[in-house]
Amino acid sequence: MATLHLDPEYGDDPNMLLSTTPISVPTRILAVVNQKGGVGKTTTTINLAAALAELGRQVLVIDLDPQANTTSGLGLDPRRQRLTVYHLLSGEAAVDDVAVPSLVEGLFVVPSQLDLAGAEIELATQERRESRLQAALTDLVGGYGHVLIDCPPSLGLLTLNALAAADEMLIPLQCEYFALEGLGHLLYTHQLVQASLNPRLEIGGILLTQFDARTTLAWDVVREIRRVYADKVFQTLIPRNVRVSEAPSHGIPITVYDPTCRGALAYRQLAEEVLSR
Ligand SMILES: Nc1ncnc2c1ncn2[C@@H]1O[C@H](COP(=O)(O)OP(=O)(O)OP(=O)(O)O)[C@@H](O)[C@H]1O
Ligand SMILES: [Mg+2]
Repeated sequence: MATLHLDPEYGDDPNMLLSTTPISVPTRILAVVNQKGGVGKTTTTINLAAALAELGRQVLVIDLDPQANTTSGLGLDPRRQRLTVYHLLSGEAAVDDVAVPSLVEGLFVVPSQLDLAGAEIELATQERRESRLQAALTDLVGGYGHVLIDCPPSLGLLTLNALAAADEMLIPLQCEYFALEGLGHLLYTHQLVQASLNPRLEIGGILLTQFDARTTLAWDVVREIRRVYADKVFQTLIPRNVRVSEAPSHGIPITVYDPTCRGALAYRQLAEEVLSR
């Protein structure tokens, strides 16, 4: 595991927080993953990262999705980034060269680019193609307590790179009838990755998202998933909340956009739960 390198003498300037003086706080790397689309991976990556940063953690978000929604949702224009996650995967740049500060203090972003999909094809012909991100994160400096990786909605090479690099999988599931569809396949992928690429990969937790307390279906889904997966399921339920869906268009997390709305409170509660696990 990498260690924290944070030097308080540099004060408030986020660019100056990077130092080579090590103190031994382990970095936790979480892959936010589900091959099903639209379940809340990006929303969770952005808002959990912001809530962790609000609690004083130094957080790095890696946008591994060619859609680049995490990049734009954190206020960065994907078309204007000089260095992106592509350069990290190709070995042309190190994390600390690629990571840029966001508007949230303590929250840094490795941006994505829209043609990362092409890069995935390039990667397919290269050596150790599943372990490129893991290699890039091995000597992580920059003092990050948490690294959150937003994955694309597939189990392709980009997602495999995230799973090979991560300590834990955080799996968002939408509270709907087909929620469990695909989960078995994802858990099977976890076993394969654990057996071949990354023995330390654990299931960090299943997160129920877009919960609508007014419908019996949502409650049924919550009960069923908790019955089957028990303590793997986070206690925190992320409510369906229109403010959460508005925040990305302003390029800020919900904790900044509307700090007291239900969505912001839920993501703060999730951050506490992640820290307590
Ligand atoms: N708690 C919520 N309340 C309301 N809307 C939400 C909530 N969470 C996510 N959404 C909305 O649902 C849509 C899908 O969410 P999101 O982009 O986070 O999913 P995703 O899993 O990252 O999707 P993809 O698989 O395409 O990457 C977005 O429009 C988002 O704003
Ligand atoms: Mg997404």
